[in-house]
Amino acid sequence: MLRIAIVTVSVPLKEESLDVPLRLSSANMRDLGYRAVDEVVEHLSTLRDRPVGAPPDREEIEAFMDAALPEEPRDAIEVMREAVEHVREFTVQTDHPRFLAYIPGPSTYVGAVADFLASGFNVFAGQWLVGSGPAIMERITIDWLRAICGFPSTAGGLFVSGGTMANLIAIHAARARSGDRSGLIYLTSQTHGSIRQSLGFIGIGEEQIRSVGTDDRLRMDPASLREQIARDLAAGLRPLCVVATAGSTNTGAVDPLDDLADLCAEHDLWLHVDGAYGAAAALSKSAADLLHGLSRADSLALDPHKWWYQPYEAGCVLVRDETTLIDAYSMNAEYLRETRHGTAPLNYYDLGPQLTRGFRALKMWMTFKTFGLDAFRQAVEHGIALAEHAEGLLVDSDRWEVVSPAQLAIITFRPVLAGATPEQVDAVTRAVAASTLQDGFALVLTTEIEERPVLRLCITHPETTAHDIEETVALLERLLDDATPPQFRR
Ligand SMILES: Cc1ncc(COP(=O)(O)O)c(C=O)c1O
Repeated sequence: MLRIAIVTVSVPLKEESLDVPLRLSSANMRDLGYRAVDEVVEHLSTLRDRPVGAPPDREEIEAFMDAALPEEPRDAIEVMREAVEHVREFTVQTDHPRFLAYIPGPSTYVGAVADFLASGFNVFAGQWLVGSGPAIMERITIDWLRAICGFPSTAGGLFVSGGTMANLIAIHAARARSGDRSGLIYLTSQTHGSIRQSLGFIGIGEEQIRSVGTDDRLRMDPASLREQIARDLAAGLRPLCVVATAGSTNTGAVDPLDDLADLCAEHDLWLHVDGAYGAAAALSKSAADLLHGLSRADSLALDPHKWWYQPYEAGCVLVRDETTLIDAYSMNAEYLRETRHGTAPLNYYDLGPQLTRGFRALKMWMTFKTFGLDAFRQAVEHGIALAEHAEGLLVDSDRWEVVSPAQLAIITFRPVLAGATPEQVDAVTRAVAASTLQDGFALVLTTEIEERPVLRLCITHPETTAHDIEETVALLERLLDDATPPQFRR
């Protein structure tokens, strides 16, 4: 109560007292803010009627922008308009309902407002003394994610910038817990490229990395893993951590988590699951079987800015036992002494590598509370169902060969060109993808499977419709006609 009383006692400020550097008047702040809201609402409500984007041309962009060091002040609204124009003109919109490449970034207005509030209040979410309310809100939000992913109540975690950091933080913690810097890491060809790179950042050399074989659906093969571990043990080496993937970026494949958890338990290995893309499917009933075993991981990377509909940046790391993070990251600095006082202080600088950190939890907290979990469940199910719809269309057409079936809202395929060599098919595949960017209706790019390009759809936007997918497949067929050399045309 006392706190509320303190907050409501406000001393009216004279406008002229705000005539200081780097400060707008209250009226100007409101005006700028309302206009920014209008811009974002306009963006979100007209997005599907605009092209996904156009191929960027660096020279054109640089020529368009004023790069002079801004010595003189300008009107804030004019500056904002300039910024909006730059962003709108020169962005391929990852939040567009027909952005079907990479991992799309559909996000919500509520999440954007949360980011604005977190910045507006400039919340320091790194330590207890100055950010106790936000720390508890982060704790609560992490606990929601923990419960959704089936982790035990001993689990803990924190929000970070994205999946790359979440994986890195977890693997470093696993190694710190083992107390042995020479431990081996097991992954596959389908492990996200950022993980290999991160292993290098934390001093894990190539000689400590084992690439385990995969099955015909590109999932880690437990039998190959078992053999590899046996070979390493026989050579006197120390296996440390299996990095499984729940929803690979290429095909949406989920490694057999239960089998891997069994193997890890047998050999006392750390099971880390990269769920940056696919762990959101824990919200879905239809994917529950696929993700079976997720709750047995020792650590899990999530990426709220992917399939949890949060604006960039938001990643999240969960560990089965929160003390793992504390042991790995707890920091002592003489000037932080007071942050350890009070009842049960919660200092996020003890759980991860950042001291100063923003309040990323707020967007997830606000969107979960605003829309309710069921809206998230429906949105995730919608993407899974649309990828299956796309698969049906591709299978029904004799123009395409499905390379990997719809899994967690991702499907890959390539053109069928009677009489063409694989190299000729690959060239046409790439040409079709390049032309979607020129066309602008929908963005469909390629990935590689077994060293050959395939077209890939990743469908996670809750506003993508079945009609969008049908129109996109029709567009791909028109682009395929144009890209097909005359000798292979029908
Ligand atoms: C499976 C997977 N892991 C990790 C990452 C890296 O995540 P971020 O880009 O958020 O750092 C990605 C990004 O696409 C991903 O798909």
